Amino acid sequence: MKTPVAILISGRGSNMEKLVEAARAPDHPAEICGVLADRADAAGLDFARGQGLVAVAVERKGFADKAAHEAAISAVLADWGAGFIALAGFMRVLSPEFVQAWHGRIVNIHPSLLPRHKGLDTHARALAAGDTEHGCSVHWVTAELDGGDVIAQARVPVLSGDTVATLSARVLAEEHKLYPAALAQALRHHQTMTGD
Ligand code: GRF
Repeated sequence: MKTPVAILISGRGSNMEKLVEAARAPDHPAEICGVLADRADAAGLDFARGQGLVAVAVERKGFADKAAHEAAISAVLADWGAGFIALAGFMRVLSPEFVQAWHGRIVNIHPSLLPRHKGLDTHARALAAGDTEHGCSVHWVTAELDGGDVIAQARVPVLSGDTVATLSARVLAEEHKLYPAALAQALRHHQTMTGD
C-alpha cells in the first residue's frame, strides 16, 4: 500500500530526486503525488516535471501574510490528495498551526546529528566546534525547529583539512541514502498507526 507523499523544496532538490527515484520501487511505501516549491526558480521543479510529476511553485510574495501563503500550500496539497509531507531543503519555517495539522505525517531531513546543530550553517558550525563526527538526521516535524523525534541518522567522520564544501558533500552523499530509507520507515510506522 502506497501513501501519497508531497515533497516540499526550495532549491536544488537533490534529496527530492532520490525520494522520487526510490518511490518508483513497488515495495517502497511512498507514491510521490507532487513537488511544491516556495520559489519559482527552484531547480528541482524542472527535474520533477521531467519525471512527469506535478510540480508547482507557491511563492510567499503573492500572499498578504504567512497564514495566507500556508493556506494556499494546503489547498495544493489537498488537491493532490497528499497524505504525508517530506520536507527536502524547504527553507521556510512552517507555522505551529500548519505543523499541528500534519502531526505524525510530516518529516524533514536536516544536515547534522540532531540534537546537535539545529538551524542553519550546520557544516560550518560542526567545523568551528571541532566535531570529529558529523552527519544527517531525518526527523518528525514539530513546532520546535529541528526538534522533533529523530527517525534515522547517518554519521560521517570530520577529516583534517575539511572545508564546508568537502564536509557538506560527504554528508549529502549520506543524506541521499538515508532519506529514502527513513521515509519508508516513517510511512510504515504511520500506516501501522492509522491503517491508511
Ligand atoms: C540538504 O542538505 C538538507 O539536509 C537541507 O537542505 C539541503 C537541501 O539540499 N535541509 P537539496 O535541495 O536536497 O539538494
